[in-house]
This record gives sequence, C-alpha cells and structure tokens, in this order.
Amino acid sequence: MNTLGNIFKVHSFGESHGPAVGAIIDGCPAGLALDMEVVQAAVDKRKTAQHSFSSARKEDDIVEILSGVFEGKTIGTPICIIIKNKDARSKDYSKVKDVYRPGHADYTFQQKYGHRDYRGGGRSSIRITAPMVAAGAIARQLVSALSKTDTTAFVTQIGNAVYDVSNLATFGLGKSENDYLQNSTKNLLSASFEKEVSVEIENAENDGETLGGRITTLVENLPIGIGEPVFGKLQSELSQALMSINTVKAIEFGKGIKAAALKGSEHNDEFIKEDKQITTKTNHHGGILGGISSGQRINFSVYFKPISSIQQKQNTVTKKGESAEIEIGGRHDVCAVPRAVPIVEAYTNIILADLILKNRNATI
Ligand SMILES: Cc1cc2nc3c(=O)[nH]c(=O)nc-3n(C[C@H](O)[C@H](O)[C@H](O)COP(=O)(O)O)c2cc1C
Repeated sequence: MNTLGNIFKVHSFGESHGPAVGAIIDGCPAGLALDMEVVQAAVDKRKTAQHSFSSARKEDDIVEILSGVFEGKTIGTPICIIIKNKDARSKDYSKVKDVYRPGHADYTFQQKYGHRDYRGGGRSSIRITAPMVAAGAIARQLVSALSKTDTTAFVTQIGNAVYDVSNLATFGLGKSENDYLQNSTKNLLSASFEKEVSVEIENAENDGETLGGRITTLVENLPIGIGEPVFGKLQSELSQALMSINTVKAIEFGKGIKAAALKGSEHNDEFIKEDKQITTKTNHHGGILGGISSGQRINFSVYFKPISSIQQKQNTVTKKGESAEIEIGGRHDVCAVPRAVPIVEAYTNIILADLILKNRNATI
C-alpha cells in the first residue's frame, strides 16, 4: 500500500537511510509544462520549516527527475523523482537497533515483518515524504492547469498555543494573515501567535519534551462536483492521504467535531444566490456536501501527536522482552508540525489532481 490515487497515481519508495527516497507518478497527462523551480521550492520549504525549531538532519534535498519529462513538459509516461540521502549517519541509530523506542513504529514493524531497516526509522521515517512533496508540487501544477484551484495550509496550533480558526471557513485568510504567512518559516499567521508558539517551544525544549499541533488547510475555487461517492468521497480520499502522514491522529472538515454539539438549525448552511451563483451564506459544511465539492471554500484541519523522540530517559524493552532504559539523543525536532505544512499541501494536491481527472467521466 504505497500508492496514492487511481488515475493520477503516485507510488512512494525508499527508506530513511537507503541511497535515495523517491516517487513515481503514473497517469500525469502529457503536455503539462513543468516549472521545476516551483517543485524544488516546495521541497525546500519542507526543509526550511524543519530548521525553525529543530536540530535538523542536513540534506540538500535536490529533486532529480529520471523520466517522464522532456523539454520541460510531461510526455505522459511515468515521472520518476528521486532525492538522494546524503546525510544518513547510520551509526547514530545503531544503539536503538534492538530496543523499542516508545511511540515509534519499531515494535509494530518488527512484529509484522520480522526484519526491518532500523536506521532512522527506515520506511516509517518522515524522510519518505520529501519526494512526495515534489510529486505534490507537480500535482499542483496539473490542478492549476485544469482549474483555478489553490491550496494553502498553515499551522493553527502548537501544544497549547491555539490560533482561532472559527472565521476562516467562511471568510478565508485576511490580507495581514496572508502577508504574514508568506514570510513565516514556521508557516504561522500572525506575530502574536508566533510569540505564543515560541513560549511553548522554549518550555518544551527546556523540559526535553516534544509538541504536537494542528494544520488547517483552505482550498479555494475548487470546481463544484469533485469527489466520487460513495467510497471515493472528497473527504474520504483526503483523509486516507492525510492520515498516512506520520503522527497524524485526526482530521476534521468544516465545523468538524464541534458539529456534534450543534443543533441542525445552527449547523445548516442556508443557500443564497450571490453574483448570479448559488452558494451558501455560511460554510459549516467545509465545502463538501455528500462527498462532493459544493463550490464553497474547502476547509479542514489535521491534528498531529507530539513526535516520539523526547530528550528524556524512558523505560522500554528489548526485542527479547528484557527491561531497558533508553535515551534517544541525536537529531530530532521539538515540534514537527511546521515542517508538515508542505506535506499536507502536497498530499491534498495529489488527491485533487486525481479527483479532478476522475470527474471528467462523471457525465456523458
Ligand atoms: C514532519 C515530521 C517530522 C518528524 N520528525 C521526527 C523526528 O525528527 N524524530 C522523531 O522521533 N520522529 C519524527 N517524526 C515522527 C516519526 O516519523 C514517527 O512516525 C512517529 O513517531 C510514529 O508515530 P505514528 O504511528 O503516529 O506515525 C516526524 C513526523 C513528522 C510529521
């Protein structure tokens, strides 16, 4: 299960400390002019956010395209993307070879496969998302060629620092939020929120702790009709992709879990006609009705647990079940959430590209 999408398919391969990580896009239509600087910039954005509150693994993350593109345009054949792993310091990880790190995928991979690449998390490392971000940037260019859709994701919670998102679904980002986001390496929307975040991060760092958080995404101008009931609903496909990102624990669309406590009359969005178009007065439904885009702004939030490598001694067991104490050390983020923003945008665009292509078969 290493492939996202059905028509625009992206197959992921590689491990954290192998020679390279990669993605193969199959089903990208021919004739799409690709801006490779934009693709590289998306991958770089993942790296920059990484440097904001973390002891980063130093990688160049240069995107290499091995096939499927000729003279700057796609040729309809598989597009193979690789990013070489250069800073794979395997020796950093040899001490965790036989000990299960709490919160990590070590135990379940070992039980399932019996033999695993334990270096840097192997296949369960977030590193495998680097070429997926490149694939997502290609998907985004396809989505732009086929529609006016634009996706923006940003951080709206880190630990107990929470940004109020209640108006974003109906009104979108304000000018000051947009401007702030453009220059924020942590993908935040305001200076006051950044201050709150810095305090949370500093406290966590002092305590040898890590933090989770939330990323909110707005998709503007997605055409009406995108999403394939019943098992390929827009929210089902997005959830499948986004819940595959490491540490993601929940996703909510529109009012999300708050909808459970609302009355029907409070939650229903009344239909109105505006600028000769049918739309809704409010957007509690988050732009999706019946699994199909309604033409309203799509909005959803993805929730992340704190990353597992904490700077504290922890109790665990070895592969043989003997009690052990572990102190992880090494290069680990205090909070990975800002770094996941380009990943969320990439996975969203892969799903949108796939569903926009699928929608071409909806009617005769
Ligand atoms: C953007 C991002 C960066 C991450 N970086 C680290 C890291 O530096 N150290 C670490 O221990 N875990 C890191 N993780 C989490 C691990 O990749 C791992 O998947 C997780 O701890 C296993 O939990 P899961 O079952 O929720 O995926 C990161 C996760 C994300 C989303």
